[in-house]
Amino acid sequence: MDLTKKSVVVTGGNTGIGAAIVRSLAAAGAAVVIDYVSQPEDAADLVKEITAAGGRALGVEADVSSPAGIDKLISAAVDEFGRLDAFVNNAGIEKRHGILELDEKTFDEVMAINLKSAVFGTQRAAKRFIEQGDGGVVVNVSSVHEDWPMPGNLSYCVSKGGMRMLTRTAGVELGPQGVRVVSVAPGAVNTPINAETMKDDSLRQKLENSIPLRKVADPAEIGDVVAFVVSDAAKYMTATTVFVDGGIMHGSVGL
Ligand code: BGC
Repeated sequence: MDLTKKSVVVTGGNTGIGAAIVRSLAAAGAAVVIDYVSQPEDAADLVKEITAAGGRALGVEADVSSPAGIDKLISAAVDEFGRLDAFVNNAGIEKRHGILELDEKTFDEVMAINLKSAVFGTQRAAKRFIEQGDGGVVVNVSSVHEDWPMPGNLSYCVSKGGMRMLTRTAGVELGPQGVRVVSVAPGAVNTPINAETMKDDSLRQKLENSIPLRKVADPAEIGDVVAFVVSDAAKYMTATTVFVDGGIMHGSVGL
């Protein structure tokens, strides 16, 4: 995979799946803007790691739950690397609760970080791609829960369900302008979002037994698929979701 001419922004790129996406993109030669809101040292370490290996990366602090934060990231990519070829809406949080316990503040927070950021990330990136005149890609890091109900995880599921329709609607609208919009939907991944489950042996076992490939994903297994979707090898994909879940969505059938 050759991404050497591509300049890419990854939101929430300093940790978890985001950091793995940054590594996969950089390994394929892309120049990467690594967005972060906390843990600046993680972003700085990642920049160091990539530049030491001969790659190009820049850490930028920006809160993507407001469009101003997104504009800041796109300007950084253009100022530093000359253009923007792909925008990865990866930033996300998870707050476990069911419909009956839900409070307004939690709902607003999850929607702002997981969905509003992706909506305006898609809009701002698409405007830049259209201005440049030679297309571009938006990757929305979704979840199996864009489609698969998870009782006790209501706001998260609603946000990912919204992302599913963002990808489809924006993908259809922007196709004629050469802008692709694709979701990559992980299942269970070994990242800070799943730390509680991974720490508890019996929970981890239960989870792994429900996955046909019998393991929780390494973040790199998601990062590599995102790099493929960004690449020209995926140039006919748009308005759809690639599931990277070890079969988890179908794993409990017949149990
Ligand atoms: C969630 C995890 C969950 C996994 C599989 C992910 O989107 O972040 O908490 O374990 O889906 O259900």
